[in-house]
Amino acid sequence: MRLRTVGSLAALAFAMLAAPASGEAVAPTVRGGAIFAERCKECHDPGDDRAPPRAVLATKTVDEIVAALTTGPMAPVAEGLTPDDKRAVATYLTAK
Ligand code: HEC
Repeated sequence: MRLRTVGSLAALAFAMLAAPASGEAVAPTVRGGAIFAERCKECHDPGDDRAPPRAVLATKTVDEIVAALTTGPMAPVAEGLTPDDKRAVATYLTAK
């Protein structure tokens, strides 16, 4: 019984993270947090001699971050992210 519940919760969480089409159902900050952990954290948290730390990214606007991910220096690392994904991670980073 217990095991089945845990299993279906895990399946649900996986479905929410894995299916971009259902992204709207997940709060952008939750989705953005998952993307940050997976795609950005290794360089930006805590940051390194080239990559600005997360606290510096947080001072930018959503549009600036989306632009960096689309046409700016981060376009190569953001490859494969949808426009919604980019906005979600930017919203997550700039959320107060
Ligand atoms: C492989 C390491 C690496 C990864 C992964 C990475 N970044 Fe960066 N990021 C950098 C470096 C290095 C810079 C500084 C680039 C420069 O100044 O030319 C930077 C700069 C930025 C900037 C500032 C751009 C500007 O115009 O000043 C933003 C915003 C940013 N990253 C967001 C992200 C987000 C969001 C992700 C995840 C989708 C991400 N980065 C993943 C290394 C990385």
